[in-house]
Amino acid sequence: MLTTTALALSTLALRVSAEVKMANHRRPGLADTPPLGWNSWNKFGCDISQDTILDAAKVIADSGLQAVGYEYVIIDDCWHADERDKNTSAPLAHPERFSKGIKYIADEVHKLGLKFGIYSSAGTHTCAGRFASLGYEEIDAKTYAEWDVDYLKYDNCYNEGQSGTPEASFKRYNKMSKALKKTGRPIVYALCNWGEDGPWNWAPTISETWRISGDVWDSFDTVDDYCPCETMIDCKMSGFHCSVSKIIEFSASLGQKAGPGHWNDMDMLEVGNGGQTYDEYATHFSMWALAKSPLILGHDLTAMTNETYEIVTNKAIIAVNQDKLGKPAQRRWKRKIEGGGTLQMWSGQLDNGDTVVALVNLSPRNLSVAVDIADMFDAPERDAKTKTYEFFDLWERADENDLQSWGRSVGVHQNSFSAPVQLRSHQTKVFRAHPINLSSNPDLVPQQVVFKTNSDN
Ligand code: GLA
Repeated sequence: MLTTTALALSTLALRVSAEVKMANHRRPGLADTPPLGWNSWNKFGCDISQDTILDAAKVIADSGLQAVGYEYVIIDDCWHADERDKNTSAPLAHPERFSKGIKYIADEVHKLGLKFGIYSSAGTHTCAGRFASLGYEEIDAKTYAEWDVDYLKYDNCYNEGQSGTPEASFKRYNKMSKALKKTGRPIVYALCNWGEDGPWNWAPTISETWRISGDVWDSFDTVDDYCPCETMIDCKMSGFHCSVSKIIEFSASLGQKAGPGHWNDMDMLEVGNGGQTYDEYATHFSMWALAKSPLILGHDLTAMTNETYEIVTNKAIIAVNQDKLGKPAQRRWKRKIEGGGTLQMWSGQLDNGDTVVALVNLSPRNLSVAVDIADMFDAPERDAKTKTYEFFDLWERADENDLQSWGRSVGVHQNSFSAPVQLRSHQTKVFRAHPINLSSNPDLVPQQVVFKTNSDN
């Protein structure tokens, strides 16, 4: 009896250690924090050439985008020739649009100190109908490595029905993961199966990032039947035309699955593409950052407005995204607002002991919101009641004359904010709460904060 139990236990131990081994996909140095960069698809679709890509790379290097962390320059769909090399089956670039070849672009991008990404699909064709990698994983991965590719976005179109269960999807995507590893080149593997078959449960064992939903589009909250699910848990039709508000909703329950080296990808940013207001784009950028999604710009960098530049270079928000603890913020509460939409509070721990807090107004009304500091924590009794915090508003500047001085102090607070926070429709306010030791700051008199939610119109 004892022997049987011992045998069963050792088998279990072996199985657990095999699983632990499998779970230990993390490749330090690769996506330790969410990747930051630019991708051609949202703005240009198939209308791309080597100039489109290199022009974007130059703007990243020259405009200060690289200085705040943007690094990957990614060609999406449509870089392809009509067919593969007839003799070797290796992938080929479009002979006119990419006449100098992909390696040339990678070299030019690298000369700027940036990294280079490419796109394919775990199917017979890409979503735009070009040749793709199913059955060609090894030759494609080898060629990408020879081209000095640093990042592969790997899509889901024309997958020959090899999806519908986590096993089928895992098997198909694992082939490229293995092929990439075999090349010996550290290539970030950005899996893009639109949240089908719950990638957050298996993709962390084979990739650095995974898309959680159907394609984003440049709309704040338009309801569209092409994006039919209310949650991605067991969603059977990821679709596309998913609004920013919908993707925020999808991401709320998935933060627990992400961490250093493995991230939920909420899709590329639409900031700067023209379909949303300043407040809406700032909400979009803030929530992607707090949920620790990759921040991949998707607009025309060569025609960027000051307003767009201001949003995407907010260093205080980027610092939250790139915080090395790598813990996505959690939604603490969501309240329905009369007249439609919701008001939400999200918060998350940061590496230095600060807490990031977002008040997100997804309603059509301007709101006046009372904030209870205890709501920011998992264990409010322990974490909040005994502490005092200085709050910094990350969408305000400390110095109005210094456009990059993001993060203005809005006072020292205990228990709750002393005055309600005013939020415009579709606006998000993001605060960084820094714990203050009152005994070493005897002159500080904290303001008491009372939180209530009222709508003021
Ligand atoms: C899919 C992806 C998009 C984009 C297009 C390209 O729809 O989800 O992000 O890559 O394909 O065809």
